[in-house]
Amino acid sequence: KKILFVTSEAHPLIKTGGLADVSGSLPKSLVDLGEDVRIILPYYQAIKTNEAIYYKSTAKINGTEVNILETRLPGTEVMVWLVDYPKFFKLPGNPYHDEAGNPWPNSAERFGLFCHTVVEIAMNRGYLDWKPDTVHCNDWQSGLVSALLSLEPGRPTTLFTIHNLAYQGLFPKSANFSLNLPSQLWDSGGTEFHGKLSFLKSGLTYADRINTVSPTYALEIQSPQFGCGLDGLLSHRKDVLSGILNGIDTDHWNPATDTHIAANFKSTTLNKKALNKSALQTKLSLPTNNKAPVFGLISRLVEQKGIDLILECLPEILALPLQLAVLGSGNKEFERQLSAFAKANPDKIAVKIGYDEELAHLIEAGADIFLMPSRYEPCGLNQMYSQRYGTIPLVSKVGGLADTVVDALPESLNNHTATGIVFDETLSGTLFEAIKRALMLYSQPKAWRQIQVNGMLKDFSWKHSAEQYRALYGQL
Ligand code: ADP
Ligand code: GLC
Repeated sequence: KKILFVTSEAHPLIKTGGLADVSGSLPKSLVDLGEDVRIILPYYQAIKTNEAIYYKSTAKINGTEVNILETRLPGTEVMVWLVDYPKFFKLPGNPYHDEAGNPWPNSAERFGLFCHTVVEIAMNRGYLDWKPDTVHCNDWQSGLVSALLSLEPGRPTTLFTIHNLAYQGLFPKSANFSLNLPSQLWDSGGTEFHGKLSFLKSGLTYADRINTVSPTYALEIQSPQFGCGLDGLLSHRKDVLSGILNGIDTDHWNPATDTHIAANFKSTTLNKKALNKSALQTKLSLPTNNKAPVFGLISRLVEQKGIDLILECLPEILALPLQLAVLGSGNKEFERQLSAFAKANPDKIAVKIGYDEELAHLIEAGADIFLMPSRYEPCGLNQMYSQRYGTIPLVSKVGGLADTVVDALPESLNNHTATGIVFDETLSGTLFEAIKRALMLYSQPKAWRQIQVNGMLKDFSWKHSAEQYRALYGQL
């Protein structure tokens, strides 16, 4: 089948979070299964690649000319089309924020133009001589695509994947005019959400099928607690809503071949993990002590990830015999508080504010425990990377975390299925108890080693999930 994969980020071209990891690895697996998948994304200034980029065609969008360029996903055969409109995208910053970290003031126009362009290509009016059977949209940035396509006779089918329901692309009603949206779409059963234009709701309303990135999150979002105001719509559409667990790129995240880490290792040479631990401690100026359990955290520093819960009990955490290695950026207040703790306790906690792919790999390889106390987590990838690197994830029991981590309890320890520490109810008290439980387990080397090996032997590759996407395309 011919699939147009619509995304606002794809690793290694451009990445701010897990959507990029998925967009950079799922298409590759689908191509391996014989599908004809092409990725389309905006041509941001920040895109990095060694592959050649060619001019392909020019599409006319509401009287404006937009160029389509062609390249490959670096190191693969996957074709990528870049929507080139310099006025919107050739600017310093990332897909959602300018250089100073402020959200782009014209996000509606930027992603509106992107969606219109996708529709032209989907209808084979982009002079690319290729018409998809299915347009696979991801998150709000692509939300208008299925709404606009719903008005086109002979259109391809549409699938909308929810990676995060909390980011909705909400804009004032006036955006309808600036985006030149047909007036029949503006309806409380259409693109309107409480008087505003919602890109996300547009996607959810008009897509032929909807899925999200874990089975548990697919259920959770049908309830008011996790539904972000869209639970009604989602339970109404539950017959076309499913959950497909994300896979991971097992080549890029492989401790046996990873070039970003100090020493490669596998489940049979786990002793070498200690070399990564001391490399990490040295790099972060923490005391090089192999006995001290190192807790790692790599994250967007936002409430979703439970950063405030960690901050709430951080004084108590730092009183325990452990070290903490934090890498992330986001909420300025969280950044400030974490940095202040690091300054006051340099031998207990190191905090690196920013985005650093190399350090992310070293933390996965060198830490003993990986912290992910998320309030909600559509899938989450780091808990899977952690298991592959023999780093035991400590997670809250939500979304994809509940689906991918098996709590270390007497039974799961006995039958060798335990892979981490899972706690119920995301509160700072339950988090703190889980941290103490982790330390207790850490003091039992045999049990600890077994949990590490159980995780390392698990198959988190895209194999199964890519098959599920293929089946879903087939049903459309
Ligand atoms: P989300 O998409 O909600 O941010 P995921 O767990 O799905 O969460 O994916 C996050 C991805 O982004 C992971 O690959 C993680 O390693 C990476 N990441 C997050 N913050 C940073 C950072 N500061 N530096 C490097 N990588 C980061
Ligand atoms: C989102 C979610 C995360 C998920 C990622 C990729 O950013 O927050 O849980 O893993 O998308 O699907």
